[in-house]
Amino acid sequence: MVGLIVARSKNNVIGKNGQIPWKIKGEQKQFKDLTTGNVVVMGRKSYEEIGHPLPNRTTIVVSKTKKYEGENLFTAGSVKEAIEMAGNRDIYIAGGYGLYKEAIPLVEKMYFTEVHLNVEDGDVFFPEFDENDFEISKGETLGDEIKYTRMVYSRK
Ligand SMILES: NC(=O)c1ccc[n+]([C@@H]2O[C@H](COP(=O)([O-])OP(=O)(O)OC[C@H]3O[C@@H](n4cnc5c(N)ncnc54)[C@H](OP(=O)(O)O)[C@@H]3O)[C@@H](O)[C@H]2O)c1
Repeated sequence: MVGLIVARSKNNVIGKNGQIPWKIKGEQKQFKDLTTGNVVVMGRKSYEEIGHPLPNRTTIVVSKTKKYEGENLFTAGSVKEAIEMAGNRDIYIAGGYGLYKEAIPLVEKMYFTEVHLNVEDGDVFFPEFDENDFEISKGETLGDEIKYTRMVYSRK
């Protein structure tokens, strides 16, 4: 299964100044639940922000300029190559922009967390795509001070 995971604001922002522009306790639980034991793919900048491979899963960094290798850590030159490397394992594309853009036509499912915020001065956005290609199911709305809603887009 090839999936994509993203948290975005109401105005489609996913990043600001090299970081995710909100901190919401519990919001990343879904990311952990889905990716643990599987393969997670991230862009070079996102990987550098985290600074290490995530525990208990395989990390593939997508980069054309750098090579990361280690225990459960690999590098691919494109999302397509990362998907090929994962073979039959479940793989989740975790951003940022260029990875999502390449991945959208290739994924079966997209897991969105819609964060109920408008973020000013965001500098990375989720790419435009045709919602008609997907069946959309709305999940729970969670959170205390900042609410967020889980949405799953499954390719028709
Ligand atoms: N809200 C969320 O769910 C979420 C998820 C992920 C990231 N973010 C945020 O988004 C921002 C980072 O995203 P970003 O888009 O700026 O950077 P990024 O995707 O993390 O990294 C960009 C780099 O990845 C490589 N790359 C990207 N697309 C590629 C492709 N199709 N093929 C080959 N290589 C590719 C290139 O590396 P080389 O230059 O080395 O070739 C590129 O410079 C941060 O603010 C981060 O916090 C948010």
